[in-house]
Amino acid sequence: MDISRLMFREGLMEGERILVTGGGTGLGKEMADAFLKLGAEVHICGRRQSKLDEAARELGERHGGKIVGHACDIRDPDAIHDMVDAIWDHGALTGVVNNAAGNFISRTEDLSVNGFNAISDIVFRGSFYVTLDVGKRLIEEGRKASFLSILTTWIWNGGPFVVPSAMSKAGLNAMTQSLAVEWGRYGLRFNAIAPGLFPTDGMSARLSPGGGGGNSHDDMNPMGRHGEMHEIANLAVFLMGPGAAWVNGQTIAIDGGGFQAHGGTFYAALKDMGDEQWEAMRAMIKGTNAKDKAERST
Ligand code: HXC
Repeated sequence: MDISRLMFREGLMEGERILVTGGGTGLGKEMADAFLKLGAEVHICGRRQSKLDEAARELGERHGGKIVGHACDIRDPDAIHDMVDAIWDHGALTGVVNNAAGNFISRTEDLSVNGFNAISDIVFRGSFYVTLDVGKRLIEEGRKASFLSILTTWIWNGGPFVVPSAMSKAGLNAMTQSLAVEWGRYGLRFNAIAPGLFPTDGMSARLSPGGGGGNSHDDMNPMGRHGEMHEIANLAVFLMGPGAAWVNGQTIAIDGGGFQAHGGTFYAALKDMGDEQWEAMRAMIKGTNAKDKAERST
């Protein structure tokens, strides 16, 4: 990210301690970059220790401050509990970004139950487990905090060919709206960002394998492009920052107007793909999954 394009003053996030799930790569790493630069202490978690170490070293060298990587698979509530214990040993969190996600394009009739679970266990259940574990501690200790979930615009109109992701993220949108009200009285606030396309390696390999598929509709966007990382980082800082403490229960799209223009889905790009193309896509996606899995420490 071009860090000079952050809109906020140095030191804005001093005193904040923020956990970013999936913070070792992709959008999570970009948000971690911004929080650290602005003075927050940042914790990142993910399944690959090597990616976390790499990110923590890179961002730490860039900005100084404190950034800690935790190998943790958020599908496992016990692993989450141990991680949050380790964080809490040094102080409470003031913010959580539910960013970790799994996704791949597939015709829904080609999915197995395991395929559905691989995505929903990370996005839907895992994000809830993190929220619950951290939320209980904050309520018990009477501390204020901010939760931010990274969704997609599919929460509003469904996501053909990414149904487990669309269902799971829509569930997180319901969590955002529900807990904003239920836990607002504890000083806990819940907001979400619904990004359009912000291509990352993890996403492109699974939603647009080989360059085809889902990423190919920049030209359909009203602004003729996809998002730039500093743009989502600025919105995340705004929502997590101290000046937005009365913003609660909101999901904000950042997509150049793509949702209004064409619904933001991959339907048009994928609807005419035949068996052979799907087979080729599936093989590429599974190759990426296997490579990532080999790097995991958990
Ligand atoms: C059909 C597939 C498949 C595919 C995997 N599976 N890929 N089925 N088509 N392309 C099936 C497998 O066959 C298996 O089912 C089951 O899914 C689990 O596969 P694993 O490889 O063992 O899963 P796992 O290692 O747990 O990996 C989880 C993952 C993977 C979700 C499948 O993609 C992942 O780890 N992703 C993390 C990063 C990521 O996805 N980033 C993109 C986020 S983009 P069987 O029945 O064979 O056992 C995003 C929003 C973008 O979220 C918004 C854009 C606007």
